[in-house]
Amino acid sequence: MLNGKRILLIIGGGIAAFKALELIRLIRKAGGAVTPVVTRAGQEFVTPLSASALAADKVYSDLFDLTDEAEMGHIELSRSADLIVVAPATADLIAKMAGGQANDLASTVLMATDTPVLIAPAMNVRMWLHPANQRNIATLESDGIARIGPDEGDMACGEFGPGRMAEPQAILEEILARLATGPLAGKHIVVTSGPTHEPIDPVRYIANRSSGAQGTAIAEALVRLGAKVTFVTGPATAPLPNGVEVIPVETAQQMLKVVEVSMPADAAIFAAAVADWHVTKEAKGKIKKDKSGQPPALKLAENPDILATIARKRKDRPKLVIGFAAETDDVIANATAKRKRKRCDWIVANDVSPETGIMGGDENAVTIIDAKGAESWPRASKRDVARRLAERIAETLS
Ligand code: C5P
Repeated sequence: MLNGKRILLIIGGGIAAFKALELIRLIRKAGGAVTPVVTRAGQEFVTPLSASALAADKVYSDLFDLTDEAEMGHIELSRSADLIVVAPATADLIAKMAGGQANDLASTVLMATDTPVLIAPAMNVRMWLHPANQRNIATLESDGIARIGPDEGDMACGEFGPGRMAEPQAILEEILARLATGPLAGKHIVVTSGPTHEPIDPVRYIANRSSGAQGTAIAEALVRLGAKVTFVTGPATAPLPNGVEVIPVETAQQMLKVVEVSMPADAAIFAAAVADWHVTKEAKGKIKKDKSGQPPALKLAENPDILATIARKRKDRPKLVIGFAAETDDVIANATAKRKRKRCDWIVANDVSPETGIMGGDENAVTIIDAKGAESWPRASKRDVARRLAERIAETLS
């Protein structure tokens, strides 16, 4: 939660400006306060009155508004927030920032500030890809300006490609990752998620049906409680979580390497459905059908057990190591044995028999097994399970 942290929201002049109103609502719902600055062009798309009503605060728009200067000068305004968010950041605003111009309130505030700045670009795809804009973006990157998006998709102008402003929810998650206070603030948590792909040859691989939905929901719930999350994910179908450091991997062996270099961590949660085996020798070229009709024999070797490796007694063992047990029968007995065998602190056990619809579905029914015993939670959405798990983790780490 944002617990009263203040965001100075600069709303530029683009069709995506209407999404900035939703962003104001979301920030306030997350416990933050918003001071809107609407540029002159921004006022063509949203009225200062609507921004003011949603923010329940005064809206600033003109550099030369003497009353504002008497109440709060542009320098003070630029320092009054914990974070400045520019959404939508138009090509023009980005160019002004990159060029160091200060010829209206928004650009002057951005020049005068010593507060971190996050931009959410929004523009036509050609404008986004234009070398001048790409140069400006690179300049802002080297100036330490953070960026979210743009997303790729259908645009208001009828074209398709990168240029859509990131969704307000995604911008909020990014803000939370930067400013969140909460019981997990200052804690680093590594989360693995999704399936792994174990290559057979350049075009084929062994995979499983994990969507990554539960791991993603856990990562987001931890961020909401203030944690810094490293999200190590196999090729999942669930949309990536926001506000986390995402490290994509393909194979179990890559996942282990990334998890190991991501240490130290206060907690590690292994929600990934890691393949148990890999093909010993990945063929260099696509394997052809044998003329004799004989199918190829795949030789498999065991993958490293990432959970067991990290849970072993080691110098940088996280205080809390959590594994998952996807079982189809004797769930609690099997999961309890697994907790002991892998030496992790908790096992989150679930029944993934096809009739439960849990694997790849939206809901989960889990039992948490720790040294004290088993605690079964009622079936709930994966988001609610994640929220409850994150709260339990926060209690344990505090
Ligand atoms: O042995 P099993 O695959 O049932 O164990 C499940 C738990 O172990 C999950 O938390 C999974 O992420 C983790 N695991 C792992 N590395 C493997 C296999 C499983 O981290 N190679």
